[in-house]
Amino acid sequence: MAEKIRVMIEEEKVNQRIKELGEQISKDYAGKQVHLVCVLKGGAFFMCELAKRITVPVSLDFMSVSSYGSATKSSGVVRIVKDLDEPLKDQDVLVVEDIVDSGRTLSYLLEMLRDRGPKSVRLCTLLDKPDRRVKDVHVDYTGFEIPDEFVVGYGLDYDQRYRNLPYIGVVELEDDAN
Ligand code: IMP
Ligand code: MG
Repeated sequence: MAEKIRVMIEEEKVNQRIKELGEQISKDYAGKQVHLVCVLKGGAFFMCELAKRITVPVSLDFMSVSSYGSATKSSGVVRIVKDLDEPLKDQDVLVVEDIVDSGRTLSYLLEMLRDRGPKSVRLCTLLDKPDRRVKDVHVDYTGFEIPDEFVVGYGLDYDQRYRNLPYIGVVELEDDAN
């Protein structure tokens, strides 16, 4: 079976929305420094684009977590594969994620980050699939709410591929015979 990518959100729309999010965040954090925490690998593309659109002082850190479960379904038990380099004490933390799906990964992660004594913790996600929510997660900034479809691009992968697509797409499997 060959794969085909159907465009769900065009590159221009994604970029425009990231610009708007950057402006909103810059307003909300006026007079402060925002500490962006990127959840690798999916959040990396979004975080770089978003950071360029933020006009208040920005610092960055990265963490990598692995969620026990199958390729397309997380369990909510999260193991830290790479921890942050810097402590979060007294920081205004903005967690930057690619997508909130069931919410299991983030509800666990946000609680863990809050335990480290930051001044504040907020969440910014490029995509949100609210229909799939199992765990309640408060999202402060959302790029796009999308229907329950498996998407790729802008950091999101299907079996580690397609992260580099500059738009959001849906993987469709087609019969080679057609
Ligand atoms: P959650 O714990 O179910 O919210 O899972 C979140 C993680 O699952 C995301 O950070 C992604 O890595 C992955 N994920 C969820 N939905 C998709 C999707 O549509 N495409 C690619 N990865 C996804
Ligand atoms: Mg992710």
